Amino acid sequence: MNPEEARQKIDKLTADLRDHNYRYYVLAEPVISDKEFDLLLKELEALEKEYPDFQHIDSPTVVVGGGITKEFETIQHAVPMLSLGNTYSEQELIDFDQRVRKIIGDDFEYTTELKFDGFALGITYENGTMVRAVTRGDGTSGDDVTTNVRTIRSLPQQLTGDFPIKLEVRGEVFMHRKAFDKLNRDRIANGDSPFANPRNSAAGTIKMQEQDEVRKRPLDCVIYSVIHEDNRGRTHYDSLMEASGWGLPVSSETKKCRSLNEVMDYIHVWDKKRKSLSYDIDGVVIKVNDLNLQEELGYTAKSPRWAIAYKFETERASTRLLEITYQVGRTGAVTPVANLEPVQLLGTTVKRASLHNADVMKDLDVRIGDLVYVEKGGEIIPKIVGVDIDSRDPNSRPAEFITHCPECRFELIRNEGEAAHYCPNPDCPPQIRGRIEHFISRKAMDIESLGEGKVDILVQNGLIHDPSDLYDLKMEQLIGLEKVLTDDDGEPVRKVTFQQKTSENIIRGVEESKGRTFDKVLYGLGIRHVGETVARTLAQHFVSMDNLINASREELEAINEIGTVISGSVYTYFQDPVNLEMIGSLRSHGVQMKLEETESELISNVLTGKKIVVSGVFSRFSRNEIKDLVTNHGGKNVSSISSQTDFVLAGENMGPAKLDKANKLEIPILSEEDFIKMIGAE
Ligand code: IVH
Repeated sequence: MNPEEARQKIDKLTADLRDHNYRYYVLAEPVISDKEFDLLLKELEALEKEYPDFQHIDSPTVVVGGGITKEFETIQHAVPMLSLGNTYSEQELIDFDQRVRKIIGDDFEYTTELKFDGFALGITYENGTMVRAVTRGDGTSGDDVTTNVRTIRSLPQQLTGDFPIKLEVRGEVFMHRKAFDKLNRDRIANGDSPFANPRNSAAGTIKMQEQDEVRKRPLDCVIYSVIHEDNRGRTHYDSLMEASGWGLPVSSETKKCRSLNEVMDYIHVWDKKRKSLSYDIDGVVIKVNDLNLQEELGYTAKSPRWAIAYKFETERASTRLLEITYQVGRTGAVTPVANLEPVQLLGTTVKRASLHNADVMKDLDVRIGDLVYVEKGGEIIPKIVGVDIDSRDPNSRPAEFITHCPECRFELIRNEGEAAHYCPNPDCPPQIRGRIEHFISRKAMDIESLGEGKVDILVQNGLIHDPSDLYDLKMEQLIGLEKVLTDDDGEPVRKVTFQQKTSENIIRGVEESKGRTFDKVLYGLGIRHVGETVARTLAQHFVSMDNLINASREELEAINEIGTVISGSVYTYFQDPVNLEMIGSLRSHGVQMKLEETESELISNVLTGKKIVVSGVFSRFSRNEIKDLVTNHGGKNVSSISSQTDFVLAGENMGPAKLDKANKLEIPILSEEDFIKMIGAE
């Protein structure tokens, strides 16, 4: 292999491995086995050893932080991370209180805290600087997730005030419900499957290997335990308040209670009030406040004797599974939906629950007629968490996933390694509807006047078949159109007749959409895996639809941030003559097919001719935004440091190897602040 071939091979392997990591950790849909992954990784490692200059700054082989690694380092906890005994009953709380009183007497107080429903972490500070964050793991050792934890804005990288030299704090990482909903909306819009609840998505995010993706998912953290040498002889409550003074996030809902009655009051208040919080809690934690008394009470093998968790009743109901129906989405993905005998849960009537995919159905072993348990946590749609096997009809049979599309009867396909079944027929009505709805959605062409089921009416009346048909609509076709709108159950809600005004608005909305920029148009096409960010990257890189249509797989793959899965999907989309024809029609109607001068134009020339390596984690911008700034100011992003590099733009946590290399080659290192000043983006 000559050096040029080696470079190409390294580039290719790096891109492929990044992509496999993305599939594995972000999409949770791996397309190769772990063994195959390791073989590719070894191949890359060997090549990088031979040709170190070609190694990418965020190569999957070396990057601990900033990018992707296959595994986290395991770290032993200095003090084991125990869990809590928990109970759902007030009687058991009375028993707990009596056990405590027997050992330490009656002169003590409790603290009561919210029990955050997230993911436990131990975070170590040395001289006030965050040095490590480790998951609970098995309680003795956990995963080093420092890089991801550094993206949590509420956790300071540096403490202030009179902090101890060595300090470990423990707390819970969680995601606010709003952030979770937004994340899921974006996932659904991109054709990805949504997360079940905020806890799962917080846990998934903390264990994720893709920093750019972690950054997009705002996590929060609250500290509930402070461990350091000088803490002896104090109270838990004071230690939390002190930690708050150093800049650490603690909950303002923590209270001191003198009696069990006060504890019970706290529980009752929060059981009622918990829905008003912006995040999920699953109970209350009760702790003996005095740290000396805690020591006196000691521990059982698994949990402290000085604390207990009171868990709120999970909102679970049991009901009958009547039928399983199947929904076809925009991308053709088929979702099984459990139709249930209506049941009350958290004040709403539940009639349906998602069964996600064939694997979930099989794992649950659900059968028509079963008594099933439905839960509603942070989920958008309730889910079935189990089946009452004992009460099942012995003659029942496992529910089989359908083989043909319920809407168009095409035979379904299931790609190797994917959880979802797909309807391969592009003319399948819900797919047509879904594609047009995506096209007009706010983040795409934003044609508001077509909302509220109007697309459905147009599709049903045969007026539109793909997005380009919208631009052929005429007033006379619209006026007088009518349809009875139904709710999810097929019950009629109201009758809509298009009047003059509605029709005018539609025509105007469609006309105005011709002003949307090329990146919006591209996103609106609904190419699988092309979300808003990817659409913007592609638009900026190729500038015009023609360039993009003519791009080779290799050209697509060569773009940073775009791996084999996305590039494959984009490439395939533009090979399909039906899509090309539709794009041709959009073009002939005057829809934007390239970025306007001003959108791709340079903001300044301050970086013209400069080769810049961007590394690490930034606070004001994401890594992609920083890279865009580099290009917009005339600079060129390069991936590895060489003597040709003009400077390294270093965020937090730049790898030590890179730092060494930059120092050795005497390449200047700029901070985010230096850079912002340089380009005048203040
Ligand atoms: S104290 C040795 N306080 O609940 C006791 N835990 O079921 C350490 N949790 O592993 C835990 N909120 O992940 C404590 N205010 C709180 C908590 C809390 C949530 C979690 C934590 C713990 C689990 C135990």
